[in-house]
This record gives sequence, structure tokens and C-alpha cells, in this order.
Amino acid sequence: MASSLLCATKGRWIVPFHRAVRTRRWRALTFFNLHTTAGNMQASQENFEKAQHNLKLLKKDPGNDVKLKLYALFKQATQGPCNTTKPGMLDFVNKAKWDAWNSLGNLSKENSRQSYIELVSSLASSESSISDKTMSSNNQQKFETLQLLREDNITKIILSRPEKKNAINMLMYQEIGHALEEAGKDESTITVLTGLGDYFCSGNDLNNFANVSPDGKEKMASDAAVILEAFVGKIIDFPKPLIAVVNGPAVGISVTMLGLFDIVYATERATFHTPFSQLGQSPEGCSSYTFPRIMGLAKATEMLLFNKMLTAPKACELGLVTEVFPDGTFQREVWTRLKAYAQLPKNSLAYSKQLIRETEKEKLHAVNVQECERLKERWLSEECMTAIINFFQSKAKL
Ligand code: COA
Repeated sequence: MASSLLCATKGRWIVPFHRAVRTRRWRALTFFNLHTTAGNMQASQENFEKAQHNLKLLKKDPGNDVKLKLYALFKQATQGPCNTTKPGMLDFVNKAKWDAWNSLGNLSKENSRQSYIELVSSLASSESSISDKTMSSNNQQKFETLQLLREDNITKIILSRPEKKNAINMLMYQEIGHALEEAGKDESTITVLTGLGDYFCSGNDLNNFANVSPDGKEKMASDAAVILEAFVGKIIDFPKPLIAVVNGPAVGISVTMLGLFDIVYATERATFHTPFSQLGQSPEGCSSYTFPRIMGLAKATEMLLFNKMLTAPKACELGLVTEVFPDGTFQREVWTRLKAYAQLPKNSLAYSKQLIRETEKEKLHAVNVQECERLKERWLSEECMTAIINFFQSKAKL
């Protein structure tokens, strides 16, 4: 089962970014420290078999990190700790699988089964809730790049291009903007932005700048700047509590915009990376203003100019993230908490948020305009074009 899932990756195995760091962290997660009794061990074996069956019914590819995690838990649950020889450095696929399995150390078979069941169940429930609720809402606008769900007084905007790590193309910018407009006016108390699959979001879709329109580069850059400015403007003006549930690594605009969110919850697996200068670009999402205020000038500069990537605990320490949760219990803990928050009086929350944010709004819009102007120039620069060509060339070589 697990090995067939692992093979279903378009004929090549993708070794995710910073796997070594994440794998080490994974070992420490408290999610594996579950209490097991003789009774639930029995139930767990039955559910384990059901989970294997349910896994085959998933329609969406959950992404490489999740598949590796499933593989490792399956091996640990059925064979115990990793006892095979480590594959060679160049055997990328088998080495990634071996590393994932080995990282579980001496985790017991029972706890591995339990974690496997929880993981499959969270994947299945997110898929079924998406299709049920998307279908059942008649007056809801249909989106291609995201899902918009409403339940428990919460509007969820789910970035849904997991095969592209939820990179934001031009259509997605516009669809998030429409979804925010709807969410701002609907009956829900809070609005949440999250991602489907193993990434929160890999930032701007670099194809936005690679596909030059027949009207020329200048038109492409000025259209993109208008779309970006409108997108960030909607976040600045959003009238209710806006919460980011950062379910995995975040890159570029998906990091910079977080300074405009009211709460940011992150899985321990998340990282925060703004490789602007590497791409010949410059900061957006008002981060040139919000980041120095949140984390201090020195730390913001290291991030925004010198591409310094933050781990989730570091981002929390610096104030960009509100709280970090173990990956295994992330979805359960976060949604339990948010459901409770969403029961609070709606108007009180909205007015309090507006009081906190109102004094900054004018400044934030001015910063947004300036940042977009600079980006319009950057997107036309040779530095940026060369960096984007290099990205796609390096992908083509794999
Ligand atoms: N723009 C366009 N395509 C992107 C993308 C982005 N920002 N992020 C990921 N993708 C695509 C990849 O090209 C790949 O497409 P393919 O399957 O057709 O080859 C697919 O998504 C999966 O990504 P891949 O690179 O194979 O996964 P990975 O785990 O090895 O690496 C990232 C993930 C996010 C680290 C890597 O894709 C990356 O560096 N992306 C660019 C991030 C970026 O610079 N964003 C802009 C910031 S301003």
C-alpha cells in the first residue's frame, strides 16, 4: 500500500526542502506519545486496516511529506523500528523512505498504528468536508484554486493547488480576494486561511512572470501590481478576525502577509522564508513596515534582505507566529480552539479588531502602494528574469 503510494509521484521522487531538519524535529513530536490500553490496541488494529482502505479512496494527492510520513508509520506499525541497511546517498527515493522510517526511533507499533489512523482520518475528513460543503452551498461562488467552507461560525478559505505547493497564480490572487469579500459580509464570526496538502503556500507562482502576455512585459508587470495591491488591500481592510492556520512551509507573500493577520497558528513543521533578493525581487504584503515593528529592524532585515529562513518556533519567538503546535495534533488542537473562539460575540470581536487595526490602516495602504510600485520595476529587471529562468531550468534538470 504505502510503497505504491510513494511510487505515484509522476515517475520521480521529490526530496522536500530541508527534509533533514524536519525529520529530526518530527522525532520529538509529542503526537506519538499516546497512551494505549489493551482495549484500544485491539480497536486500533481494526481501525488501522480501515485506515489503509480509506487511504486508497483519497482523491487528492496529499503531497510528498505526508506520503513519507504515512510510509514511515506503516513500516513502524507493521515491522517495528527500522532495521535495514541505509541506502546510498544517490538512491534518493529509498534514502528518503529509510530516513523517514528511521526517524521514528523506538516508537511502539501501537502508537505508530494510532498515529497512522489519525493522519489518514484527518486527510479523509478534510477531503469529505470540502466536497460536501462546497456542493451543498447553492449561492456560494465556485472557485478553481481554493475552497470556501462555512461551518461552526467559521469561514475557511483553503488554498487548493497542493500539486504546486499552493503557489498563488493570478487567478488565485483574485479568487482569494473574492472569498475575503464574501467572508467579510457573511454570518461567520472569524475567517481562517489555510492550505491543502503538505505546504501552506509556496508564494507567488513564478509562472506569473514567466508567461509574458502578447501585450508585453510592461503590461504583465503593471497588471500583476494592480492585482497584488488589491489583494493586500483586502487583507488590510478585512473587518473581522483573520486567522492563518499555517499547515506547512510558507514562502514569499504567504509569509509577508502574516503581519496583517490577527492570529497565526503554525505546525511545528512550518518554515517561513522570504527569498526576495535571491529572486531579484523586493518585499510585499506590507512586510517592509510590519516586520520591523513585529520583530525589530535587525531580524526583519536578515529575513527580508538576506533570505533568512525561520523555523516555526523561531517565528513564534520573534512574534510573527502566535503559537506553534506539534504536527500530529495540529489540526485537532487548532480547530478545537478556533471553534471555541468562534462562539464569542461576533460584533464585539469585529469592533475590537477594528479598534486595534484602524490607526494603522492609512499607513498600511500607503506602504502597499509603494511596495507594489517597486515590485513593478523589479519584475521587469534582468535580476528577476534571470532568477526565474534559473528556477525553471533547475526544475527541468531534475
Ligand atoms: N511557482 C511556480 N511553481 C511552483 C512554485 C512557485 N512558487 N512552488 C512550487 N512550484 C511547483 C514546482 O515547479 C513543481 O512543479 P512540477 O511538479 O510541475 O515540476 C511543484 O510545484 C512541486 O514543487 P517542487 O519544487 O517539486 O517541490 P519541493 O518540495 O522540491 O520544493 C519549494 C518546494 C516550494 C521549496 C520549491 O518548489 C520552491 O523553491 N519554489 C519556489 C518558491 C518561491 O521562490 N516562491 C516565490 C517567492 S517570492
